Amino acid sequence: MTQAPAAPAKTRAQIKEATLRKDPWWRQPAVTAAFLGVVVVYLTWASLVNADYVWGPYISPLYSPCLAATCTPGDSSFFLIPWLTWLTPAIIIIGGPMGFRLTCYYYRKAYYRAFWRAPAACAVREPHARYTGETRIPLILQNLHRYFFWIALTFNAFLTYDAVIAFRSYGGQWGHMGLGTLVLIINAALLWLYSLSCHACRHAVGGRLKHFSSHPVRYRMWTLVSRLNARHMELAWISLTWVLLTDLYIRLVASGAITDLRFF
Ligand code: FES
Repeated sequence: MTQAPAAPAKTRAQIKEATLRKDPWWRQPAVTAAFLGVVVVYLTWASLVNADYVWGPYISPLYSPCLAATCTPGDSSFFLIPWLTWLTPAIIIIGGPMGFRLTCYYYRKAYYRAFWRAPAACAVREPHARYTGETRIPLILQNLHRYFFWIALTFNAFLTYDAVIAFRSYGGQWGHMGLGTLVLIINAALLWLYSLSCHACRHAVGGRLKHFSSHPVRYRMWTLVSRLNARHMELAWISLTWVLLTDLYIRLVASGAITDLRFF
């Protein structure tokens, strides 16, 4: 009688030695952990401080769209939620962009390696005995990424709008441009590139098709998104860094520490 093949063991690959690697494999997870640590500290502080996030036509991407009742009409071009007075405008909206980044396929790899050592790197022994993947709470929630993708596109639309209205002067007249305008335009562009390079976007434009030949437009879109997708890691880091720099620039201008450079 033939025996059924054994079910795969729910354990990690066993290596007797601590590592089979001779190169400095720990550098990449260490740099990732250090950088993400700085990001988390800065974002926490900037989201809670609730000040200096608006200057004339500029608004920090961390506070936009500004929906809290504490936003003054000049801070927001959108509706305000009257009963939301006990949270900062940044905390109200942070779940959208943060959920998108946290569930991103690339960031998952980065923080699983950097913080959980699951795995730390190829050919390095893991501290964990069992492996359950992303099949249980809380990691099963990573599957929400495809929905966060659409939420992220909504945020991109708001931040693009912010970049357009940054062509106004401090007094509200159109036809002006400062360094802050440029910073906001680059911010919106990088966020679009990061979102459009997402694996979920690739699936949305080219998935579930039997024949590309019958869908030339979707094939063309899928080809473009696939090219961007190859740069997803770089776009993830650059766009995240630029969001922080944009907030910092507007914060420095709003607090009077620096003056916005005017081009025209
Ligand atoms: S896979 Fe990274 S944003 Fe979707």
